Amino acid sequence: MKKIRKAVFPVAGLGSRFLPATKVSPKEMLPIVDKPIIQYAVEEAADAGITDMVFVTGRTKRSIADHFDKAYELENELKTRGKEDMLKIVQDTVPKGVNCIFIRQAEALGLGHAVLCAEPVIGDEPFAVLLADDLIDPNGFGSVVAQMADVYNYNRCSVLGVMDVPREETKQYGIVSTERNEGDTQRCTGIVEKPSPDQAPSTLAVVGRYILTPHIFEHLRTLRPGTHGELQLTDAIASLMRDEAVLAYRFKGTRYDCGNKLGYLKAMVELGVKHAEVGAEFSEWLAQRGH
Ligand code: G1P
Repeated sequence: MKKIRKAVFPVAGLGSRFLPATKVSPKEMLPIVDKPIIQYAVEEAADAGITDMVFVTGRTKRSIADHFDKAYELENELKTRGKEDMLKIVQDTVPKGVNCIFIRQAEALGLGHAVLCAEPVIGDEPFAVLLADDLIDPNGFGSVVAQMADVYNYNRCSVLGVMDVPREETKQYGIVSTERNEGDTQRCTGIVEKPSPDQAPSTLAVVGRYILTPHIFEHLRTLRPGTHGELQLTDAIASLMRDEAVLAYRFKGTRYDCGNKLGYLKAMVELGVKHAEVGAEFSEWLAQRGH
């Protein structure tokens, strides 16, 4: 029985919604309070027992590789100054027992292409895909990827993390149709990328968490480019569904869309008020200004 050991993080996107902050630094390195967005995703995968983190990067993304590397000078400096707490924070950036692997996606040919770039490292194993822009606070329920790995381990087929969205927002997501619209886990009957509200088969949206069987690569390889000449992961999943079962799982947790400014600010506030060091004071300040 193959366990989920590997996760793919497609991080080659431009982040143009956050210019000028993303002119030279990756959007995945923007912090929510004191941790870069990408670190939340890596910790979520590590909490699910995943040990191999595969980053599919592009130009201007070098700082992601540096972030998940040793920082000798900084560590020595902190050691010399006796700043043990800070040293631990720096050393814990890469969770224990985790390997980080970097693949460069030379051209931005879409999410499907990014996942296909990881095939040589993934091989013939089921794996997770995490879109770091979708930051999910599990609200104490345990990592969303861990929840999905449980569904995978029980059913042995691909699992898509989904949530209900307002109908007017269907054009921002991959939307699934399912056999029945009840319960946490449903078999998918179809998936379409960014349908308009009147065309959407449902309001169940895929939000940046996937567990896929390695058969997805065969479908990605034979896929024709869709909109903007990009290979859509959604189209490959639609094709996979014709061969094997794919489940939609309504995860437990709150998702923040950190790919846009408003979602990013909401994440900052919500995780800010929960923060161990500044949360209480921040909440008080928010309350004083009438929130
Ligand atoms: C991507 C996927 C889409 C999915 C979304 C989740 O779109 O193509 O199917 O619903 O992520 O955030 P993007 O937001 O990258 O345009």
